[in-house]
Amino acid sequence: MSVSEGSPSDIADAGLAEAGRARIGWAQRSMPVLRLITGTFASERPLSGLTVAACLHVTAETACLVQALRAGGASVFLAASNPLSTQDEVAAALAADGVAVFARAGVDRLTYDEHIHNALDSGPDLVVDDGGDLVNTLHAQRPELLAAVRGGCESTVTGVIRLRRMAEEGALAFPAVAADATTTKRMFDSTCGTGQSVIDGVLRATNILLAGRVVVVAGFGDCGRGIAEAARGLGAQVIVTEVNPVRALDAVLRGFRVLPMAQAAPVGELFITATGSRDVIAAGHLPALRDGAILANAGHFDVEIDVRALTDTAVKLTREVRPHTDEYLLPDGRRLLLLAEGRVVNLVAAEGNPPQVMDVTFASQALVLSWLARAEALPAGVHAVPPAIDEQIARLTLESSGTRIDALTPAQQEYLSSWRQTP
Ligand SMILES: NC(=O)c1ccc[n+]([C@@H]2O[C@H](COP(=O)([O-])OP(=O)(O)OC[C@H]3O[C@@H](n4cnc5c(N)ncnc54)[C@H](O)[C@@H]3O)[C@@H](O)[C@H]2O)c1
Repeated sequence: MSVSEGSPSDIADAGLAEAGRARIGWAQRSMPVLRLITGTFASERPLSGLTVAACLHVTAETACLVQALRAGGASVFLAASNPLSTQDEVAAALAADGVAVFARAGVDRLTYDEHIHNALDSGPDLVVDDGGDLVNTLHAQRPELLAAVRGGCESTVTGVIRLRRMAEEGALAFPAVAADATTTKRMFDSTCGTGQSVIDGVLRATNILLAGRVVVVAGFGDCGRGIAEAARGLGAQVIVTEVNPVRALDAVLRGFRVLPMAQAAPVGELFITATGSRDVIAAGHLPALRDGAILANAGHFDVEIDVRALTDTAVKLTREVRPHTDEYLLPDGRRLLLLAEGRVVNLVAAEGNPPQVMDVTFASQALVLSWLARAEALPAGVHAVPPAIDEQIARLTLESSGTRIDALTPAQQEYLSSWRQTP
């Protein structure tokens, strides 16, 4: 059974639609690549007649992706991938334009799950996920819908890790594209965008000066590297913690001090986790932390800082000493500050990635969905984004900023393609 777009949405306040349109309009200005793709989709209609169920942060930038998919002919059903990041005015604007939106800021876990089911009620042909909750729900609780799903696309590392586990166990029922791993997304989104917006979230929540401060970044992957470099750019003394020797070496060669967390704990003033793992700052680290240490998480799930251990250890919790900053008083009198309740700090305390960054991410997802809609006999499993899509995104991004590059001459092409030629 499938339902049609325009079915009742669950949003906070339909009266916010005008404010939402203004916010979407502002984002659109900074999303030239998605604008170009929306124009092409409107004339070619690559998603005509298809239903897309999406579980994404309900923000103005996501609204631009939804508009592109609709221009391509898709009916879109949207649920929030994080109740704290939902922009209620954007949800209202989308609902007013006939999109089925199931998202209200701050809903509890039960409603969050219900919203995912609401989006799945559409009986999707294609799915877009951010973190894997929609795909998990689909396989674990709505298996009757799987036969109709042609494919899906996942935007985060965390979600792709879950997809790979499913594929290894033979549980993944359709082709799923790991859209987290394109070169363009890594450059724009994970490293530059997250680096900047995580620091933005920390500064908005705390208003501290970073210059001279000891900042510990846990994880030196694409996100951690961006955060570490952004913090260093503002004058912080950055320490990196890692479990992977190659990544740790990369940090050392880029001039960062690398320490185990146990040694970083007593010297750090601000800690930012970006690992995709759990208990990176755990109960065992708490006794070593300095009075006034600030803890923030940039990883997808709120498990990187052991908030339960912090709550169990503290004798007093003062919520919101500043917006998005909670203070935990420990028995020995030290105060620890936890930002955004240990959730993704750049989405909760700031505005997530700037629209220019999401432009590249969402442009690639729009092209992936259009590719999946045409792809024939793609086996179930995790697939990489075709390199041609990555190159197309890079070309469109350069084009949109008026940047031109050289092209290989025929002689250069021949030189590079033949092993017989000598210099
Ligand atoms: N906040 C955002 O806007 C945003 C954007 C993109 C991704 N993410 C999330 O950030 C997390 C990291 O993403 P990524 O792309 O950098 O992943 P990644 O896999 O490239 O890097 C993670 C790094 O953390 C290291 N690590 C794992 N466990 C560790 C531990 N206990 N201590 C220290 N280091 C550890 C790994 O070795 C790896 O180098 C994921 O959860 C991802 O979903 C957040």
